[in-house]
Amino acid sequence: MSFFFPYPGSKRRELKRINMPKCVEAIDIVVEPFCGSCCFSMASGKDAAVNDLDPMLFDFMSTIQAEGDQKFIDFYNAHKTREQFEEVLAGEQNLMAWYYKRAASVFRVGMYPTARPPVRRVSLSKAVEFFQKSRITNVNYADILTEFHDNERALIFLDPPYFNSSSVEYYQQHGALLRDQIEGDRGVRVPDNTQMFVDIIKFFQTCRCKFIMITNGNAIMKHIYRDFIIYEYQFKYSGTIIINGIGRKKLTTHLLISNLPPDCFNCHADALGEMAPT
Ligand SMILES: C[S@@+](CC[C@H](N)C(=O)[O-])C[C@H]1O[C@@H](n2cnc3c(N)ncnc32)[C@H](O)[C@@H]1O
Repeated sequence: MSFFFPYPGSKRRELKRINMPKCVEAIDIVVEPFCGSCCFSMASGKDAAVNDLDPMLFDFMSTIQAEGDQKFIDFYNAHKTREQFEEVLAGEQNLMAWYYKRAASVFRVGMYPTARPPVRRVSLSKAVEFFQKSRITNVNYADILTEFHDNERALIFLDPPYFNSSSVEYYQQHGALLRDQIEGDRGVRVPDNTQMFVDIIKFFQTCRCKFIMITNGNAIMKHIYRDFIIYEYQFKYSGTIIINGIGRKKLTTHLLISNLPPDCFNCHADALGEMAPT
């Protein structure tokens, strides 16, 4: 499976924990209210309704859906040197630059700078195929949950921003989202996304649709979602952070939360090597 660009917080490497054919056996539509790079929907092979609050991501997906991928590929291919790369970063921050930065470099010049040149590989063909048969929206996740609440043949895959983060990474990338948070001369309010997790558990307790959520496993999250936790595992980020001059991988605990039966998941250490079920 190939994806259209490296996305911060992508769950691509975690899909191996999900027995996809079993999960979607009795499902007509897969729904991603926090879609990012849409890795779950794309891997499911089902009709999909994908949604993200990020206006640039929405613009990108809609453009691919309406016009295909040619202009993105052409732009990428015309900017392959380090100098051209710097030029795009310094120039107008339009849709092309947005896509290019992600395709070329999100982990290289964004959060984890290195002197390496941009990656010279780009493929959007799977994305074109996928977006052409998907519904794409740009609303708050809660509207999507409401819409599919009683649909027994819908599977909702939720991958919200981390509970203990302020979503700063997403908000920094998409400054537009921060405009609403400016409080006059006092400053910019760091968003509080904790209400989201209260609303999501209430949804889980009443919905008739199927759901899977992957999220970080701090003590509060383990408590709130205890009735729906399938298992927890350790996740190692692909990016490196430098501490005292030494590059290290960040580690965190993830929770796999669902109302699907356990045989929909690959939760045995034997099957996945490094992890143990809880
Ligand atoms: C962890 S990422 C999803 C990554 C995705 N599952 C993947 O594999 O690429 C969370 C996404 O939620 C979006 N988001 C944040 N707050 C949102 C909200 N209130 N409603 C909808 N989307 C939101 C962000 O723009 C971001 O793309």
